[in-house]
Amino acid sequence: MISSLRGMNDILSEDYERFTYFINTATKIAGRYGFHFIETPLLEETSLFKRSVGESSDIVGKEMYQFIDKGDNDVCLRPEGTAGVVRAFIQKKLDRAGGIHRFFYHGAMFRYERPQKGRLRQFHQFGVESFGVESVYEDAAMIMMVSDILETLGIGYRLQLNSLGCKECMPPYRNKLVKFVKECEEGICEDCIRRVDTNPIRVLDCKNGSCQELYVGAPKFLHHLCESCESDFNTLKKILNDNKIEYEINTNLVRGLDYYSKTAFEFVSDDIGSQSAIAGGGRYDRLVEFLDGRPTPAVGFAMGIERLMELIKMPQAAKKGYYMGAMDDECVDTVVQIAHKKRKTDTVIIDYKSKNLKNHLKAADKAGVKYCAVIGSNEMKDKTIWIKNLEDKTENTIPIMEF
Ligand code: HAM
Repeated sequence: MISSLRGMNDILSEDYERFTYFINTATKIAGRYGFHFIETPLLEETSLFKRSVGESSDIVGKEMYQFIDKGDNDVCLRPEGTAGVVRAFIQKKLDRAGGIHRFFYHGAMFRYERPQKGRLRQFHQFGVESFGVESVYEDAAMIMMVSDILETLGIGYRLQLNSLGCKECMPPYRNKLVKFVKECEEGICEDCIRRVDTNPIRVLDCKNGSCQELYVGAPKFLHHLCESCESDFNTLKKILNDNKIEYEINTNLVRGLDYYSKTAFEFVSDDIGSQSAIAGGGRYDRLVEFLDGRPTPAVGFAMGIERLMELIKMPQAAKKGYYMGAMDDECVDTVVQIAHKKRKTDTVIIDYKSKNLKNHLKAADKAGVKYCAVIGSNEMKDKTIWIKNLEDKTENTIPIMEF
């Protein structure tokens, strides 16, 4: 038997219902915030992710599904959605057009990580990206949108917030941090030794417990923000307070992707185990320019759909549709014709084998429909159909014309 690849799952039946319920809910809410759908390819040039997510990130350094295609192009399956949307935004010259452009997307992402509960190699994200709004009110709108989606789905969360500063305050802070880390270099892990040279702030979210102990006294970015970043961060906190959205400050929240500046946030759940991040995002004001577009402020987030599917409380779905069957072989064709008409408006599941009423009722129950409709030779003669409402148990025989 050939199985699916490790960390790559099939989604079917009940899971699929949950999946589409999530997409429909998130799509509706993104629409209320003025976002429009965008679809970008699953495969992109590898350099797009190297230049955006960053060479020093784990995603680019260790986790990409990268290969040379038949035309000798270095390509990879997208590990995340933001880079592709930014590429499309620039390619369509929307950076030159100016104004505000808001997009949402959903689809498969690929990261060659070590699979475990909640961590897949092919997973799905729902994400939004907003271009052209400098105001921190847009950052707050992102957070409110995630909060609206989670509340609608009945999912509890903790929101963690940080600011990663801007091109003015980041370099002096980075220097201070590097100085601090170099002083405790003897005790830190190999990854952190590498990070000090490539992207020092990533040391702050090292998963190694002994590194974390050493970094307790590290300088905090929130104490080194420039006036404008500090004022934006204070405004963001005020907007969240005004709108009754609780948050925790996490000075170690640096996110695993290199493009962020200013606001960084993550929504975590305490109900799904160690892979607890259910959504993450932030501002990335320099990325458009970095990918050769005109400087454009931008902010966005993405939610991990598989992690959320574990948590979604689905509303009880009302039973609907028909099961149809024949009690005699010569009635099967009539059943098919009637069902063909009925399917213009309703769901109809047909059993092509004739069987007795008891067995049809059993099969109808299993199919989870609201009605069982059956035709035998008597009904054929009278041009009628027998129907049972499986919810209130009422039975009826009506003319086929009225069905
Ligand atoms: P991210 O934090 O890398 O951000 O991913 C967003 C979410 O995707 C995570 O919070 C998690 O729920 C889910 N996720 C990530 N990796 C996996 C995995 N291996 N298995 C299952 N779920 C996973 C981004 O991707 C950014 N592009 C978000 C963004 C958009 N920032 C600005 N705009």
